[in-house]
Amino acid sequence: MTSGIVTAAYIGATILFILALGGLSNQETARRGNLYGIIGMALALLVAMSAAVTANFTLLLVALAVGGAVGLVLARRVQMTQMPELVAILHSLVGLAAVLVGFANFMDPNIHHQGVELTIHHIETYLGILIGAVTFSGSVIAFGKLSGKIGGKPMLLPARHWLNLSLLIAAIVVGALFVEESAEGAGMTPLLIMTGIALLFGIHMVMAIGGADMPVVVSMLNSYSGWAASATGFMLSNDLLIVTGALVGSSGAILSYIMCRAMNRKFLAVIAGGFGTSGGSVAGGEGEQGEVVAIEPLEVAELLADAKEVMIIPGYGMAVAQAQHMVYEITKTLKDKGVNVRFGIHPVAGRMPGHMNVLLAEAKVPYDIVFEMDEINDDFPEVDVSVVIGANDIVNPSAQEEPDSPIAGMPVLEVWKGNITIVLKRSMATGYAGVQNPLFFKDNTRMLFGDAHDTLSAVHQAL
Ligand code: TAP
Repeated sequence: MTSGIVTAAYIGATILFILALGGLSNQETARRGNLYGIIGMALALLVAMSAAVTANFTLLLVALAVGGAVGLVLARRVQMTQMPELVAILHSLVGLAAVLVGFANFMDPNIHHQGVELTIHHIETYLGILIGAVTFSGSVIAFGKLSGKIGGKPMLLPARHWLNLSLLIAAIVVGALFVEESAEGAGMTPLLIMTGIALLFGIHMVMAIGGADMPVVVSMLNSYSGWAASATGFMLSNDLLIVTGALVGSSGAILSYIMCRAMNRKFLAVIAGGFGTSGGSVAGGEGEQGEVVAIEPLEVAELLADAKEVMIIPGYGMAVAQAQHMVYEITKTLKDKGVNVRFGIHPVAGRMPGHMNVLLAEAKVPYDIVFEMDEINDDFPEVDVSVVIGANDIVNPSAQEEPDSPIAGMPVLEVWKGNITIVLKRSMATGYAGVQNPLFFKDNTRMLFGDAHDTLSAVHQAL
């Protein structure tokens, strides 16, 4: 394949990736965006294979078949609730690939650079491995935390900021040593030392982040994985990898910023760790809140049927119960009765960005009745019945009322300002952040206990 065709194909793939990102920014165009991404990636893969690979073609095809088969099985098996874990573990693979390619590139005897070019190449290699190793170990820990294999509580070492700073300084010093040694054909030892430091940094960084701040970490690791790919692109002189990595890196960074804003956190403060701790007040846990009032599905149906304005707030529990279809059945029934039903979506509801929107779209809930938190938060005083389906942290008033709460400052949906709130959950267990929720004990709150799918089916029947 001539270099002209390769360049044209790479530009084509880049445009498709940009269109994919553009499409994904809106629910109505998300499917098309995904399709552009798939075509772009298929094109990139084909061209890279035919242009860059000159030997061991069979080995490559076998690896592709094995990798593709594993990916296919995983994608088919994974539950919607396990998606964030899958994303985290896939990020770790990007990081690992950057580390392995970096080492392979460093050891490749066929690469001949001279003078400044050689120094630049070595710096690219060093950075690629550094970012890749942080992404790898950080993502593995994030996977552990999201899947519940590692506890959600942050690990707060006494001098953790000093530890981070010394790891950073060590990485810079070892980097200088590496550039010096590698100019004379050595350098493997500093490279290995730096990899160890970066792995440690990734582990420490994510271990120090508390449950409620995990959304920021997931999008931040997404960003890191992009920069790792971009650095690998520089190392391999592959323009497409540079651009694609930069697209992933910058969109991940923007997403992290949006997540931070949604949670009222400062980005640097989150990565420095220690937020989302359950060390603060647990907002009146241990029975200080008074009694909760339980309600039965029949009464819920009556309240809904008599209401004019209903607001539905879905959370992680709706995903667990797979109750989105039943929610839409109830919505249709209420609409037929003349009730105005709207959905209020918190930016970090569920376990991944856009989690609730995806579920509601799957159930074919029309987009025009689904609103972002900022659009509807002032409307609660006019709402007759708010139905909180398996949500907890995102409707927790202690975020506003308890300065010591681990989720203090996080914007929440102010459901308690409505006339009556019905909370669907199975028990009095806490949500992801591990914080008790005073909403459940308010006078105008009723608890409908049980699996959300079962209780909603009963409500639907009664309606
Ligand atoms: P959570 O605060 O985690 O609350 C979910 C609630 O659903 C739980 O209290 C649980 O109570 C209930 N539940 C679970 N299974 C259920 C079922 N089958 N039927 C009925 N209820 C069920 O969820 P949220 O309000 O959506 O808030 C999201 C939290 O996750 C935030 O803290 C956020 O920071 C964090 N997080 C978000 C993301 C992203 S990007 N969205 C990523 C990682 C973490 P029971 O056990 O009593 O049923």
